[in-house]
Amino acid sequence: MSNLFDLTGKVAIVTGSGRGLGRAIAKGMADAGASMVVCSRTLSEAQDTATEIADAGGISFALQADTGKRASCEQLIAETVAHFGKLDVLVNNAGIDIIEPAEDASEEAWDEILNINLKGYFSCSQFAARQMFKQGTGGSIANNSSIASGVGIAGLAAYAAAKGGVNQLTKVMAVEWASRGIRVNAFAPGYFENVMRGATTEHQRPEKQQQVLNFTPMGRRGRPEELVGPVVFLASDASSYVTGAVLFIDGGYTAQ
Ligand SMILES: NC(=O)c1ccc[n+]([C@@H]2O[C@H](COP(=O)([O-])OP(=O)(O)OC[C@H]3O[C@@H](n4cnc5c(N)ncnc54)[C@H](O)[C@@H]3O)[C@@H](O)[C@H]2O)c1
Repeated sequence: MSNLFDLTGKVAIVTGSGRGLGRAIAKGMADAGASMVVCSRTLSEAQDTATEIADAGGISFALQADTGKRASCEQLIAETVAHFGKLDVLVNNAGIDIIEPAEDASEEAWDEILNINLKGYFSCSQFAARQMFKQGTGGSIANNSSIASGVGIAGLAAYAAAKGGVNQLTKVMAVEWASRGIRVNAFAPGYFENVMRGATTEHQRPEKQQQVLNFTPMGRRGRPEELVGPVVFLASDASSYVTGAVLFIDGGYTAQ
C-alpha cells in the first residue's frame, strides 16, 4: 500500500519553489523519493531549497526560471531533461498576488497576473506534455489553484480570473491528454500560514485575520506541509484513475 505514494525514480519540477508553499511541496516530494527540479525567478532562493533537500538526503537541482516568459518555460523543461534525462511530474505553483479594488486595477497588474498565474501554467504544461509524449511514459501535472477560483474574494479580480482559468485549463488538458497517459489535476488551497508576498499588507490587518478564521470551519490557517500529502497523491500512482479533478485543501472553506 505505501508503495502507491512512492515517487522514487520520478523526476519532478515544482515552479516557484524558492520559498513558501512551493518550497514545502518540493521538500515533501523529495522525501517521497522524487528527483526534484527546484526553480524560481531568483536563483539564490531556488538554491536554498535545493540545499535543504540535499542536506536531508534528497536529490535536487536548482534552476532560474521566469514562468511569465514562454521561452523560459521551454528552457526549464529542456534543462530538466538535460540534467535528469526525463520528466515525469510537473507542479505549476509559481504565482503572484496584487490586491486592489476592481475599479482601480491597472492594466499592467492584470497582464502580469494573468501572464504568470495562467499563461505560465499553460506554457509549462504544454512543453512538459510534449516531452512526456516523446518519452512515451505518460506523467502527472498538478496545478496550484486557489479557493479564489470558486468563491468571490474582494480585491482579487485578476487573481481570481486567472485561478478560475487554471481550473478550466486543467480540465481541458486532462480530457485531451488522458488517452496518452498524462493526468492533469488541480489543488486549490485556502488560507495558509505562508502569506503570498503581494498579500502581506492585507493579511496584517487584524480584521482580515479574524475573517479568515471565521470563514474557515477548521478555525485555523493551513500549514504549508499540509499540501504535501495531496500533491504527492496527485503526482503518484495513488491517483492513477484521477484526472481533471480540483482538490480543495481549505479547512472546509468552500464546503459552506
Ligand atoms: N499562500 C496562500 O495562502 C495561498 C492560497 C491559495 C493559493 N496559493 C497559491 O500557491 C502558490 C504559491 O504561493 P505562495 O504562498 O508560496 O507565494 P509566495 O509569494 O510566498 O511564493 C511565490 C513563489 O513563486 C515564485 N514566482 C513568482 N513569480 C514567478 C515567476 N514569474 N517565475 C518563477 N517563479 C515565480 C516566487 O519566486 C516564489 O518562490 C501560488 O500559485 C498561489 O496562488 C497560495
